[in-house]
Order: sequence, then C-alpha cells, then structure tokens
Amino acid sequence: MNEVYEKLRRCLAAVKKKVAFEPKVALILGSGLGDYAEQMDIKAMVNYSDIDGFPISTVAGHKGRFIFGYVEGVPVVAMQGRVHYYEGYPMSDVVLPVRLMGLMGAKTVILTNAAGGVNYNFTPGDLMMITDHVTSFVPSPLIGPNIDELGTRFPDMSEVYSKKLREKIKQAAKNTGVLIQQGTYMQFTGPNYETPAEIRLCRSLGGDAAGMSTACEAMAARHMGLNVCGISCITNMAAGMSNKPLNHKEVQEAADMAADNFKKLVTELIRLIGEDDYSCESLYN
Ligand code: HPA
Repeated sequence: MNEVYEKLRRCLAAVKKKVAFEPKVALILGSGLGDYAEQMDIKAMVNYSDIDGFPISTVAGHKGRFIFGYVEGVPVVAMQGRVHYYEGYPMSDVVLPVRLMGLMGAKTVILTNAAGGVNYNFTPGDLMMITDHVTSFVPSPLIGPNIDELGTRFPDMSEVYSKKLREKIKQAAKNTGVLIQQGTYMQFTGPNYETPAEIRLCRSLGGDAAGMSTACEAMAARHMGLNVCGISCITNMAAGMSNKPLNHKEVQEAADMAADNFKKLVTELIRLIGEDDYSCESLYN
C-alpha cells in the first residue's frame, strides 16, 4: 500500500478508536477563527497529539484538536488549528487532516483562513468567498505516487470551489446580512509575508487575497471528490498596500474583530448545507 495512504489509515483507526461520530461537514478554522468551534454542540474532542503520526501545528492561535459536534443539527468535525507547509512538514502531511476528515465521512469541506487583501476594494475585516485559487507557488500535494484509493492521477481542477456551495455562501450572506466579497486566493509558502513586488505580481496574475494555507487542502479534497468551499478573513491589506509593516498579532486581532460575522455566516452556511442531500453527486451535477 502507498505509504501516505497507510499513515492516513492508521490515523483514521486511531480517531475511530476514540470517537464514534460520523461528520457530514468538515470545517477547518484558520488563524484567529478557531473559537468558532467552542460554540458548537460539542460531543467529543481529540487532540492531534493523541493521534500517532499526526502533524502538529506550532503556530500561535492554533489549538491543535478536532472537535466533533453539531451545528444547526448538522454533524460537523472542526479543526482548531491546521498544519502549514512553512512549518516544515511535507505536503502529504499538510493535507493529511483534510483527507482524514474525508475518510471519517465528511462529504463537504469548508476551508477558512486569514489572508492578506490584494484587491484594493477590500478592507481589513472583510470576509471573502474563495471562487478559485492559484497554487503555482507551492508544490502540489498530489506529487508522488497517486493514492488510487482516494482519486485519480490527473484530477480535474476546473471547479475546485463548488458552484452550488458558492451559491449557498451567497445565500447565507443574504440571510444573515453579512457583507461578503469574492475572489481568487493565491497561496504562497510563507512563513514570511510577501514583498510588495510579490503582491503586485499576485494582483497582476488575478489574485485577490494572499495566504499561506488552504489551496493545497482544497486540491487534496477535490482529488478525493469532496465538495469544497472556502472563506478568507481579510485581516490586513497585503504588503506594500498600506504603510504599516505586517505582523501576526494584528492578523489575529483583525480575525477576532470579524469573528461575529464569521460565526453568523458559517452557521447559516452549515444550516443550508444541512438542508441538502450530502452526496457529492448532488452538489456537483
Ligand atoms: N499574506 C499571507 N498570508 C497572510 C496575510 C498576508 O498578508 N495575512 C494573513 N495571512
């Protein structure tokens, strides 16, 4: 068996030994957005450190555990803290958690993150629905022997962020009165913030937001046929767009400020997802 897949199966067995909960929706909570999980109707928690072989996040503001519970009656597994490529893990480890949640039974993945605004129409505190992404500056998580059990060697990426889920995000924004921007997310490796020249490059290539996560997870999730959507919290204008130097503390504070809107939007989105049949076919066809 493929080594990466074997590790995934071991992690799945370890989680199943601790909890018997089948999530329908997987939610990855980005920097400063982790508190969302605490207001779920929590049924169980598993620390990443209790899963042998699981990559552990080292970033301030990332707690490092799975939370299993209900949002509006929908069974959800939420990740408080993700793993980033810049922490030194291979891409196969970076996307292990999202794959694992897919194997737990989740058919829909909601990816969230903190990101720098590249589009001049954005303001810090805005939420941006991700419509597409550019991952060309980071290695593909699908490099290496293909895991046939998960998906095909050459997966289509023409609709990474499900059109139907995007409609639901827009509907959720309407229902809650939360303003939502939309745009293309561009992933950089980090951990340094980008230079102003890199941000100009990003903009000229069609990027609206810059970040250090998410797109690789979206790609791995799509590879295994999950329904993907993403929401970025624009925590700052990207390098060179304001006269302030960037720092992580400000990113966290801005995410905190957006937490209320984030909570309203995500809860309503999950409720709308819950109204649907959860099967992949129903969302993609
Ligand atoms: N760049 C990359 N990642 C980020 C940023 C940024 O400006 N802000 C929050 N995450």
